Order: sequence, then structure tokens, then C-alpha cells
Amino acid sequence: MIRDEILVLKESPLYGFRTEHKYFPVIGEGNHEAKIMFVGEAPGQNEAKTGRPFCGAAGKVLDKLLDHVGIPRASVYITNIVKDRPPENRDPTSLEIEVYGPFLDRQIEILQPKVIATLGRYAMGYIMKKFDLDLELEPISKAHGKSYKTKASYGDIDIVTLYHPCMAVYNPNNIDLLKKDFETLKNF
Ligand code: URA
Repeated sequence: MIRDEILVLKESPLYGFRTEHKYFPVIGEGNHEAKIMFVGEAPGQNEAKTGRPFCGAAGKVLDKLLDHVGIPRASVYITNIVKDRPPENRDPTSLEIEVYGPFLDRQIEILQPKVIATLGRYAMGYIMKKFDLDLELEPISKAHGKSYKTKASYGDIDIVTLYHPCMAVYNPNNIDLLKKDFETLKNF
């Protein structure tokens, strides 16, 4: 099982930090029949303490955004590319993305979401490359709120590229921009 494998993932650069602090890996949470999968970046401290994705300040913003578009949190699946908390919530490294990416790939194959909504530039970069959309990659300042049609092994899917909810944690004025981008999800 994915959780068991990650628990003993000693080759991860984040393994020592997790065990030292008695943190949990954050595998993902939600509806296994979900049409929409959200992919964030990496767990923060609250998430690592509980093992649940988006349960801290960024999670509160995500809840607000889901509410805004009338999508119940219980109807979607929420995960991250990197499954362990990076120290000081720094950006994930390319090695960390390489180590944890295959687990996300397996989650996608298992859950077969029709829509993958990426939160932030790291998830966007990983998912767009994975689904052969490299040529359409733009800085997130341009890509936010856009959607792309592509193919997964199990059929046609749409990728929606969204800003990370932490944008509104750092600056609450950004909530309106995030809300507008989330409205893209209503098309699916
Ligand atoms: N930020 C993320 O990218 N993921 C979480 O689970 C929490 C905060």
C-alpha cells in the first residue's frame, strides 16, 4: 500500500525530518469516486501533525473556495505531490518531487479522476509535464484559471491550473482572484 511504502521511505530527503518530529506523511484524503482530484505542493506543519491534507490556514482558504463554487469537500480527493513536510515550509526540491512523484502517479491511476486541479506552480509543472502538456507550460501568473484537455491511460481528462490557496493566507485581498479562478471548475 502507498501509505506503508511512504512510511518506510528512507531514501526520501524528508524521512529524517518526519521521524525526528514524529510527523505523519500526508497521503491524501477524500472521495475515492471523485471526479476532481486536487494536487497541492507539500504538507505544512498542521498537516504533518495530523496526516491530513490542507487542514491548516491554506486548508481554510481551500474550503472557502470550494464553498464559493458549490463543490463539497467530501466529493473531491485532495493530495499533494510531496507527501512529507519540508522544513520551514520551504519549496520542494526537484529531488523530493522525483522521489514522491511516482506515488502521485499511482494515486491517479487508482482513482482515475476526470479533472486534475493543480494548486500552485509545482503541482502545475509536474502534472502538465506528466500529461505531455510541456509545450503549453507558462508561468503560473499567466496559466492560473486555465484548463487543458489531455489523455490519461484511462481516458480523456482536463487539467485545471490554479493558484495555490496560500496566496490568500499571505494576502487576504487575493481571495477574489482565487475565487474567480475556481469558477473554472464549474465548467466540468
Ligand atoms: N499546502 C499544500 O500544498 N498542501 C497541504 O496539504 C497544505 C498546505
